[in-house]
Formats: sequence, structure tokens, C-alpha cells
Amino acid sequence: MTNADFEKLVDTSDEWITSRTGIKERRIADDDTATSDMAVQACQRALDMAGCAKEEIDLLILGTVTPDYRLPSTACVVQEKMGLPNAAAFDVVAACTGFINGLSIANSFIKAGIHKKILAVGVERLSSFTNYEDRNTCVLFGDAAGAAVVSAEEGDSGIVSTFLKSDGRMREFLWSKVGGTLHPHTPDYTYDGTDKIMMTGSDVFKVAVREMANASRHVLDQAGIDASDVTLVIPHQANIRIIEALAKRLKVGMDKVFLNIHKFGNTSSASVPLALDEANREGKFKEGDYVLMVAFGGGLIWGSALVKW
Ligand SMILES: CC(C)(COP(=O)(O)OP(=O)(O)OC[C@H]1O[C@@H](n2cnc3c(N)ncnc32)[C@H](O)[C@@H]1OP(=O)(O)O)[C@@H](O)C(=O)NCCC(=O)NCCS
Repeated sequence: MTNADFEKLVDTSDEWITSRTGIKERRIADDDTATSDMAVQACQRALDMAGCAKEEIDLLILGTVTPDYRLPSTACVVQEKMGLPNAAAFDVVAACTGFINGLSIANSFIKAGIHKKILAVGVERLSSFTNYEDRNTCVLFGDAAGAAVVSAEEGDSGIVSTFLKSDGRMREFLWSKVGGTLHPHTPDYTYDGTDKIMMTGSDVFKVAVREMANASRHVLDQAGIDASDVTLVIPHQANIRIIEALAKRLKVGMDKVFLNIHKFGNTSSASVPLALDEANREGKFKEGDYVLMVAFGGGLIWGSALVKW
């Protein structure tokens, strides 16, 4: 969907969306494509790139807030659709940091010797939970999936440090009110958008800039390196202005920051792996380079991962 498509739906303009968010287009899944279907495609491409057989995967961690079902997990659906005979599978509900949470868990399981080859996926079908009458939110979101194979290897490449944090006091800055056990869909529920994504954008904006910078510094300090040592920063693609403010706080030039928000919008947990994959395929970093991933989202929640490629 382009900005022009939204001009027909709500009172907005290409100029407003582009200048306030940096978004030009987003991808919307068709009616026959479930969250799990997108995840399967991303997982298959990750396995192909890693040269990894399905039988080798012993854990699938899937970050999503837009699951196929309430029960079971989308990870179990993907395990069946992919045919991963030896994998445990579970979902992580961590909004836009879902992939970073998955990487962090994968790193810990591997370092503890519990699992050896893990698929970490971030996938969202946000179009199912977007209120296309609310101009404050509908222009922002898109559908996507991204995945990575994380494996136990010798050598000093890999996940160097990770950081996760949340603050549930700010949960109503970005949430869906109706549809859970606290505010269930009742037979007399008439649609008012409260079962879709609701957000107070300016509140999220301020926390995002502050905490993405803090999360970035945390993993850099843990590794004993400076932001200037990082080859590429891959931030969650929520808003170009948030990303620019983050770069300024970290004192890194925008030439070191990967951007694809103009093509995909905010794809929540898929955003970081989608950008990582594009950057990797475009050869934006090479073996031994430091890549910094950082995200924030509904919870509120934020996190980062520093990787030596
Ligand atoms: C949503 C966001 C782009 C809005 O930008 P902003 O500069 O904060 O704009 P405001 O919310 O202050 O709104 C300014 C005006 O624009 C209007 N507006 C909101 N969406 C609009 C749209 N799509 N088109 C035109 N006008 C719009 C508002 O109604 C408001 O009008 P008013 O002054 O008459 O009340 C910005 O706050 C943001 O990106 N926040 C972070 C959101 C985010 O990243 N969420 C996901 C986290 S994972």
C-alpha cells in the first residue's frame, strides 16, 4: 500500500506521512497468507542461506504479536508447515523487539549447551490488527517476516552481547485493549477499533529515542567497544525521525545506519531481521565487522544485540 492509497482511506497526505515517518510504502499480506505462511518463507530462505538441513534445527523461536491462533503457538504451526522433526518451538510476545528477544534466548541456550541450531524468526501480519479508520496508526504498519539461523560454532564471531528491558507501566501507550481475558470480546461488542492497535505516538517517540540509545550503549559497553567501532547499526524501522535522533545520540553518521522503512513501514518484530537480511544480501558488512541491532515496542519494551559477523 502506498501513501496515495491512504489518501483515499483517511484524512492524510503523502507529504505528511513522508515528512513525519519516512514511510512511502508497506507490504500487505493477501487474504490467503497467514502469519505462519510468511514465517515459513523467511525460515526457508534462512535455512538455504545457512546451508542448514531442516533436521538440524533443534529449536524454533518465533516473535509475533499477530499469531495465527490464540492457541497453539504460531511456532508450532510453522514447525509443522516446515517439517522440522527435531525442533522444540515456542512464541515470544515482545512486540517490535520480538526478534532481539529471540536472538537473546537463542544465544543463551547455545552458550548453555542446551540447543545447537536455532531458527529465530520475527513475523507480523499487522494488517489484521490495524484500524484503517485511524490515521494516527494505520499509515505506519506493514506485514513481513525475517529469520536467522543461530548455531554453535568455534571462533570469535557471533553474538557478543545482548540487552533486554521493559516497563509495563507504559503499556497503554501502544496496545490493543479488547480481545484478551481482561476485556474480552463479548456478544454485544460493537466495533470501535479498541481491538486493534491503539497508540499515543508522541509518548512512544520520546521513550523510543531515549531507551534505544541506552540499550545500544549497554551492549557496546559490555563488549568494551565504541559506537564508532560498529560497521552498521540496524535499528527497528518505526520512524525515520526516531532513527535519526538515535544516530545523533550515538554520534554515528546516517551512512552507518541501515534504512528500509520507506519500503516496508513498521513491521514490528519482523523489522530488524528484514533489515538485517537486506543489509547482508547487499554486502553492507563483512566477516569480523560489528553489527548493532536495536529495537523498542509495545510493552513498552526495548532491547539490543551486538553481533560480530
Ligand atoms: C505517530 C507519529 C508519526 C506522529 O507524529 P507526531 O509528530 O508525533 O504527530 P502528533 O501525534 O503530534 O500529531 C500531530 C497532528 O498530526 C495529526 N496526524 C496524525 N496522523 C496523521 C496522518 N496520518 N496524516 C495527517 N495528520 C496526522 C494528528 O491528528 C495531529 O493533529 P492535531 O494537531 O490537529 O491534533 C509519531 O509520534 C511517531 O512515530 N511516534 C512513534 C510511534 C511508533 O514508532 N510506534 C511504534 C512503536 S514500535
